[in-house]
Parts: sequence; C-alpha cells; structure tokens
Amino acid sequence: MDKMIIHGGVALKGKVALSGSKNAALPIIMASVLTADPVIIGNVPRLRDVRTAVDLLVRLGVQARWIGEHELELRAREITSHEAPYELVKTMRASFVALGPLLARTGRARVSTPGGCAIGARPVNLHIAGIRALGARIQLRNGYVEARAPHLCGARVWLDSPSVGATENIMMAAVLAKGTTLIENAAREPEVQDLARMLAAMGARIEGVGTHVIEIGGVERLHGTQHRVIPDRIEAGSLMVAAAITGGDLTIEDAPADQLGAVVEKLRETGVEISTHGGGLRVTANAPLRPVELRTLPYPGFPTDLQAQMMALLTQSSGTSVITETIFENRFMHALELLRMGADIVMKGPTAVVRGPSHLSGAPVMATDLRASMSLILAGLAADNETEVSRVYHLDRGYEALDAKLRSVGARIDRVPA
Ligand code: EPU
Repeated sequence: MDKMIIHGGVALKGKVALSGSKNAALPIIMASVLTADPVIIGNVPRLRDVRTAVDLLVRLGVQARWIGEHELELRAREITSHEAPYELVKTMRASFVALGPLLARTGRARVSTPGGCAIGARPVNLHIAGIRALGARIQLRNGYVEARAPHLCGARVWLDSPSVGATENIMMAAVLAKGTTLIENAAREPEVQDLARMLAAMGARIEGVGTHVIEIGGVERLHGTQHRVIPDRIEAGSLMVAAAITGGDLTIEDAPADQLGAVVEKLRETGVEISTHGGGLRVTANAPLRPVELRTLPYPGFPTDLQAQMMALLTQSSGTSVITETIFENRFMHALELLRMGADIVMKGPTAVVRGPSHLSGAPVMATDLRASMSLILAGLAADNETEVSRVYHLDRGYEALDAKLRSVGARIDRVPA
C-alpha cells in the first residue's frame, strides 16, 4: 500500500486549483440511471469513489465513457441488472443512493446495506422510510434491501434528521413518481442542491432546494443533459487549513466563498486572514494562532468533513480549543494518531479538548478514513522531521492529486508506492 512521506516546516505559498466535489459527483453519477438518454457530466474528480460509482453503473448496464480528463458520458439506455452488490456498497456507502433512481426507473432494486463504518454507525433507516412512504414494498433479506414499486406515488416525508444521502435518495425516487412529494427537514448541503440542479436540467420539477422543505412534482420521463459538478468545498477548506497550519499564503482558485461561511468565520477567529481574490479565496497566516470553540452541524453550520483538519490546526493555537462533533459518533480517530505526533488532546464523548501550541514531531501514522488522512497530512506539514502516512488509499477516495497540488505550492511531500 502506498505511503505519503512529508517533511514539514515549509510555509505553503502560491495558487492552487480545486477539483470537482466528490460528494456532489457521486449522486449526480447515480442520477444518470433516471433516463435512457445520454448524460454528460463535467468537472468530475478522478477519485477512487468515482471509479466505484462508475463500476456500479456499468454492472447495472449503463454505458460509461470518459470523454475528457474530467468529463464523463453515461447512457442508461437499458438497465440490465437491479442489484448494487455488497462488494461495491461496502467499499463506498454512497452506492446506497442507487436505490432511489433504480426503483424509479425500473420499479425494482436490490441494494446491499452498507454495514459498519469507521466514523459511526451510519444507518440507512431514513432512506428506507422515505422510499417506503412513496409506496415501495421493501424487505430486508440476506443483507440486502429488496424494493419493488410498479408505481411510486408522491408523499409527505419527514426526516428525523436532515440526512444528505436520504434527501438525495428520496429526491431521485420522487422525480418520476406520480404526484407531489414533500421532503420536510431536508438536507440543505450544496451537494444536494447541485444534484437538484442536475435533475431539473433533466426535466424534473423541484422547488425549495436549499431550504428545509423540498417539493418535487413527479414527471413521466426525464431526458439527457449536460451538467458541471460544483467545486469541492471540503477540498477548499482542507487547503485553507494547509495555508493556516504552515503560516503560508495560498490562493485557492474557484473556492466557493458562499458555501464556506462557517469555515471562513472559524479560521478568521484563529487569526488567519482571508480575502476574496478573483473568483477564489486568499488565505494568509502570519500571526500566532488563537484557540476556538467549534461544533459540527448540518449545512450551513461547520461541516463534519472539516473537523479532523481543524483539529490538526488547533494543536498549533496558543490556548485551549473545544471541538464538538454532533454528526457522527466516532469521528475522532485522527486524534489518536495526532497524539502520537505530540498533540495534547483529551476526548470525552462527542467533545475533544485541544491544548496548544504543541510541538508536532514526525512519526509513522495510519489513516483511518478519508478526512482523518487529510488531518494527518496537515499535521505532517507542520511537524519537524519526517511524517509517514500509511493507508493512503483512504486519501485517494476524496482528494485528487493531493501530493502534486501540495508540491506545486512548496510542500515537501512524496508518494511512495508500495
Ligand atoms: N443517519 C441516520 N439514518 C439514516 C441516514 C443518516 O441515522 O438513514 C445519520 C447518520 O448516521 C449520521 C447523520 O445522520 O449520524 C448524518 O448522515 P448523512 O446521511 O447526512 O450523511 P451521508 O449522506 O451518509 C454525506 C457525505 C459525508 C458527510 C455527511 C454529512 C456523501 C457521499 N457523503 O454522508 O461525507 O460527512 O453527508 O455531511 O455525500 C466524506 O466525504 O468524508 C463524508 C463522510
């Protein structure tokens, strides 16, 4: 398995470009199942999770072709299988959002349940309850959700919590249902909004996107379209932290400032300067960092997907920071590795108390999930000596060409093949 070797201590300087959003691209790729026409998706990041999503579609009978470095053509002229198998869903939970579009298009779906996950239990009860409310008969058998619905019918669906995946799954089931569906307490994440824009471009009738109530008027059929995936706000936030933790000066091109409000606010509280620059954000860090308190929340709150990166940063603030993770119950695995590098972090339930500034020293560390691996890379950029991050395949799930991007702004980071 590949490793990343980092020699820290270099202030990162320059410009860096973002890739397309992973979490927007994945459901958008699944949405191609909803039409027999070709769909062309641009700004698709070349990531392991994207490959998994495309592999899944190919197994369903979808024709998939890369027509440019980041441009994907998908055509679900005919669906030849209704099954999302365990071996794919277990490697990428987002495969579970194939349920809604498959059922809507063909009236049948057999999708493996995802099982455990490194960051929390992550059940799929809300997805299932929502799709059941649209009239599907659902059985859980042999680890699979088996769903049948000759005709889905619009319904009112209340989500107990504003789940991103459940909102996407139900939205994709509802676009071809008979009548109107209301999703109440819906997720408002920009990635959900991007999927809704893609569906609307395919002919779906969707209102209220970006609010807590999404209204979907079912239509008979959807048609092909072209869609460009939004830039990755989590990659943007990760690179902003890279500037902050190295005392650097980075301009992140195309960073979606309007989607990064909570992140900009928290970074400014630490003393980092952030300004809009062209179409992006410039992050300059040249003063000692201050501690902050932060809570992860559904959008527009502080994203859980940037909590691990912020924890690495706060080890360098002078004073006591408090992080509360409210979305996932086990998302502090990176803290245990940061401790091995010299961080001072005490965890109790959903709260982590980070005391700084700590002198981080390079160590062999192990990534446990995607964002944890980014946190360790960031700590490595601030550490002395050599940091060796193993299990880099986690990073490949969600950061495109990260080592090359970081090298281009001065980082001493190398990927060592197994
Ligand atoms: N939840 C339930 N029941 C459900 C669905 C969710 O209890 O049926 C709970 C989850 O266990 C969790 C909370 O609700 O505690 C939020 O989960 P959500 O469904 O919103 O998350 P998701 O759709 O599984 C997406 C992203 C995650 C991101 C979360 C939260 C994708 C492919 N994944 O997951 O991204 O952390 O939303 O914003 O969009 C990542 O990129 O590293 C990542 C984990």
